[in-house]
Amino acid sequence: MNIGLLGMGTVGGGVYNAIVERDLGLSVKRILDCRALPGLEKLQTAAFQTILDDPSIDLVVETMGGDEPAFGFVLAALNAHKHVVTSNKLLVSAHYRELHEAAAQNGVQFRYTAAAGGGIPWLYNLARAKRCDDILSIQGVINGTTNFILDGMYTQNGDFDEMLSEAQRLGYAERDPSADIDALDTQRKCALSASLAFDAYVPAASIPTAGIRHITKEDIAYCKNLGRVCRLMFYASRADEGVCAQVEPVFVPGDSAAATIRGCGNMITLTGKHLGELTMIGQGAGREPTGVAVVQDILDIAQGLIQAPFSTAEAAVCATAPYRYYVRKDGAQYVSEPISAAQIHKEGADFFARIAE
Ligand code: HSE
Repeated sequence: MNIGLLGMGTVGGGVYNAIVERDLGLSVKRILDCRALPGLEKLQTAAFQTILDDPSIDLVVETMGGDEPAFGFVLAALNAHKHVVTSNKLLVSAHYRELHEAAAQNGVQFRYTAAAGGGIPWLYNLARAKRCDDILSIQGVINGTTNFILDGMYTQNGDFDEMLSEAQRLGYAERDPSADIDALDTQRKCALSASLAFDAYVPAASIPTAGIRHITKEDIAYCKNLGRVCRLMFYASRADEGVCAQVEPVFVPGDSAAATIRGCGNMITLTGKHLGELTMIGQGAGREPTGVAVVQDILDIAQGLIQAPFSTAEAAVCATAPYRYYVRKDGAQYVSEPISAAQIHKEGADFFARIAE
């Protein structure tokens, strides 16, 4: 199978290395990137049209990140009857319907396992589980950068800014790390996971979301005193009226599984009506793990493992149950009575985190 690779950055480099390291029957025919790529000049192009017009390229891998021009390139590739594999959660969550519909209309595969969970085959296994079960809920830690920061602040008394810089240096963070620390990355991954799990389009913007940008050492100390560990978590469940979903920092019990997730690790759980709980733990970010997840999607397509089209009917997102929250506001720190996510967002705070029961 011949591949056109769009973007030779952190993930694109991991994809390229995983492909050339062994004989997988895959060949990178062209690489679209404007930066100097020593040793790869013969493959390199600065014009996407070269890839689009090449009939020998069967599959386009998009690892550029961001919305445009990635969206235009991916849509054009699907409409040119080329399969597409991407790691770009912003792209997929922003254009979920259009991209899925274009893939279905053109009879090609559109895969994005690497867009949620880094090296963990989460979306792939969620799609498999859903084939013969009802997914009741999904939840977990699905952003490596924020877990790296929270783990470092807790275990090494680390400084927020220093931990974030280190996450950027290690290639975990988004180009604009606001997406990580404001939890938009988690929100997008939650939307993609919920859309797949519940077979309905869940718009990312409809999920109540809070991040960790303003967390301080005082918050971590309060959390420790409660015998808890802070994690940025997502949650989504099937409901009569649609889908309940939420993204927020959570103080989890110190002896819970989520508390043991170190560094850029992710931990993601699905609960199926028949399957019960299934948890996956692994590296949620980084060049090599994410590159491998992209290549796994390519190999599935090369081997003819076809994924059925997903529904693109929009789901209503409804409120989750009330919880107690840790709140820091105007210098005071306290634990609230049970309140809804809508209420805690409305009241505002310098920082808040749900207290896991
Ligand atoms: N910035 C993302 C993270 C990269 O930290 O999880 C992997 O999706």
